[in-house]
Amino acid sequence: MDTAAVGQSFAHESAARHVDGQAVFIDDLPEPRDLLHVHLVTSSWAHARLTTLDLTACLSAPGVVAVASAGDIPGVNDIGAALKGEPLFPFETLCYIGHPIAAIAATSPAAARSAARLAIIEGEPLTPVLDIQTALDREDYVCPPMIMRRGDVDKALADAPLRLSGEVEIGGQDHFYLETHVALARPTDDGGLHIFSSTQHPTEIQHLVARLLALPQSAVTVEVRRLGGGFGGKESQATLIAGIAALLCRKTGRPVKLRLDRDDDMMITGKRHNFLLRWDAGFEQDGRLLGVDMLLAGGAGWSADLTPGVMSRALSHADNAYYYPAVRLKGLSCKTNSQSNTAFRGFGAPQGMIAAEAMLDDIARHLKLDPLAVRKRNFYAPGRDITPYHQTVEQFRLPAMLEQLEDSAELAARRTDVDSFNTQSPIIKKGLAVMPVKFGVSFNVPSMNQAGALVMVYTDGSVLVNHGGIEMGQGLYTKIAQVTAEVFQIPVTQIRVSSTRTDKVPNTSPTAASSGTDLNGMATKLAAEAIRGRMAEVAAERFAVPIDDVRFENGEIRSGNHHIGFAELAELCHLQRVSLSANGFYRTPKIHFDKKTMTGRPFFYYAHGVAATEVAVDTLTGEWKCLRVDILHDVGKSLNPAIDRGQIEGAFLQGLGWLTMEELVWDKDGRLLTHAPSTYKIPTARDLPRDFRVELLANADNPEATVYRSKAIGEPPLMLAISVWLALRDAVASLAATGARPTLGAPATPERILAAIETAGRTAT
Ligand code: MTE
Ligand code: MOS
Repeated sequence: MDTAAVGQSFAHESAARHVDGQAVFIDDLPEPRDLLHVHLVTSSWAHARLTTLDLTACLSAPGVVAVASAGDIPGVNDIGAALKGEPLFPFETLCYIGHPIAAIAATSPAAARSAARLAIIEGEPLTPVLDIQTALDREDYVCPPMIMRRGDVDKALADAPLRLSGEVEIGGQDHFYLETHVALARPTDDGGLHIFSSTQHPTEIQHLVARLLALPQSAVTVEVRRLGGGFGGKESQATLIAGIAALLCRKTGRPVKLRLDRDDDMMITGKRHNFLLRWDAGFEQDGRLLGVDMLLAGGAGWSADLTPGVMSRALSHADNAYYYPAVRLKGLSCKTNSQSNTAFRGFGAPQGMIAAEAMLDDIARHLKLDPLAVRKRNFYAPGRDITPYHQTVEQFRLPAMLEQLEDSAELAARRTDVDSFNTQSPIIKKGLAVMPVKFGVSFNVPSMNQAGALVMVYTDGSVLVNHGGIEMGQGLYTKIAQVTAEVFQIPVTQIRVSSTRTDKVPNTSPTAASSGTDLNGMATKLAAEAIRGRMAEVAAERFAVPIDDVRFENGEIRSGNHHIGFAELAELCHLQRVSLSANGFYRTPKIHFDKKTMTGRPFFYYAHGVAATEVAVDTLTGEWKCLRVDILHDVGKSLNPAIDRGQIEGAFLQGLGWLTMEELVWDKDGRLLTHAPSTYKIPTARDLPRDFRVELLANADNPEATVYRSKAIGEPPLMLAISVWLALRDAVASLAATGARPTLGAPATPERILAAIETAGRTAT
């Protein structure tokens, strides 16, 4: 019986089409007749009161058909994702350089672009807030402060034999998806709209466009076949693009396309939140923590967007894998005059984890202990297993995984090698760091953990699946096809997954929080099983056997000597008027979370990973190389090892880019200077570790009943790249007096590494 589809390394369903260019993205769709193209008029002040907006010259420019600004919105001018109060176009206040004020629709992109320059905009400049510290001083936040706590931290700190505090600053990150934001809106003949949008959240586009245009949600259909990468950047921010296209489509009655070029995409849309992390810890002589008090201050940008969720996840990952006997974690979401920061792979968890890792590293150095030993000493363990949000850590795999990695990566020997290399090598210094990752899987908002699917079997035995998830390169459609093939025991080639549409599966959640397969895979499985049950009944009747004796295997349905082909049985069901389509609906069990007290069981389970990274730093230039990376990752029982491995490698490299080379720079007026690949450096294939060893944890079925016992994979491995940053700090520390800690924030660019080397050198002399 080998039609087993789950657990096989099938290639991504679009792999060949991605490579030969046949995969259709929204901008590749044949352009409808009468199509209009949009260009945006944006703010050149970081903060100002808009006094005049005159678009008459734009309107009379060649090719221009319509213009739109706040006054043209027939419904509610609000596209807030988490909180209300985020207008599509500003009423009065301009909040960042790049803030879209109005839109021009013309017969060509060039006509729209040149007309946009004719807009007359006058305003009274206001003082902008351009950094986290200023926002902290002004207590200016996009959402109320959040506090997660357990035990009496003040007492724990006061009573602790040792105490240390520290601070680290972490930069943001542009998503740099290959496909920039795009939307194509078309009027339908019944007064509605059909929108192709590069979104991770078609339902949100549908609902918010309906509200903007004062239409019922049923009049708006949103369709997505694939994204050229999302990485969180298209979870909420696609609404702006689709909303403007929809508004102009409604206004003109013509199809409208809005596609941002790279510079506009970077100037206009939000990024990963930068963070200022401060910690104060009390501990024992052996590095065992007693109390932890942390401030996580995130740069939200001008509006809330998804910041409340990001902050909540940052707080719930500021423990990473470690038990804090008494703890207070404070999250402040600072309002600044920049792009509105948003979801980005990890959703705040990476920044939270860095706080934990920097703290433990510093404590270990302060105590002149091995950082790895101090980490292990603080691991969650039986009796020391309650998180700051009061969920009990179950099925904690990290101690065993770390032991396996220590062995396979020969960590003890390599630690000695690195140390002796450093004593002999005056200019090149090596660093080695090991870190665990524990990542909570489920949306922190329990209601979002639901999904639907629609499975259809046709009379020739071919199967079409529709579900609420978005394919953005992560392999979701491939895994969905595998799950369906597994249920019916037919070849994966017999399954087709159609584009995701709000008119087939309604009221869906975004594809995010790494839960795409967990949620949609399960909904698909349930739908397919419902059809399989009905088909089994028809087969049982035909074979005259009890239904329990009917088996689906090898593309056939069998019982004893009886057998019938899958297609033949589908045809038979049809003749007998038995339905061959079904909806599946899934909601994650066991989860709950109280937003007010910030306690509960927000996560269904945890995904785990461990990484060991070795780097070599040139202390004269600050340049460095990643010599070797060993990763052991827990994906439960992998649905597709090849895709999971790809996710691990891609996520790791994306994390490495964030922490070492991707630097966002704004000038003193708040203008983003790094808005193109010429000034914003992302990692390339050349930046892959020279020796990159990725293993999936074996025999690791998820103890929770997830889809075929798999675990989520999309985000957790990004955080393994924090080990690169820790290894760089380790190399820098080798130059300092023992006991001194490296002063290296992120991104650890060569300039910053060089500065940290100089500081380290001063402590040594
Ligand atoms: N992989 C690729 N190739 N492209 C992407 O845009 N997004 C990541 C991750 N892996 C992304 C990716 C993010 S941020 C998330 S939340 C998950 O995929 C979402 O998909 P999943 O839930 O199906 O894993
Ligand atoms: Mo991913 S940041 O949850 O889209």
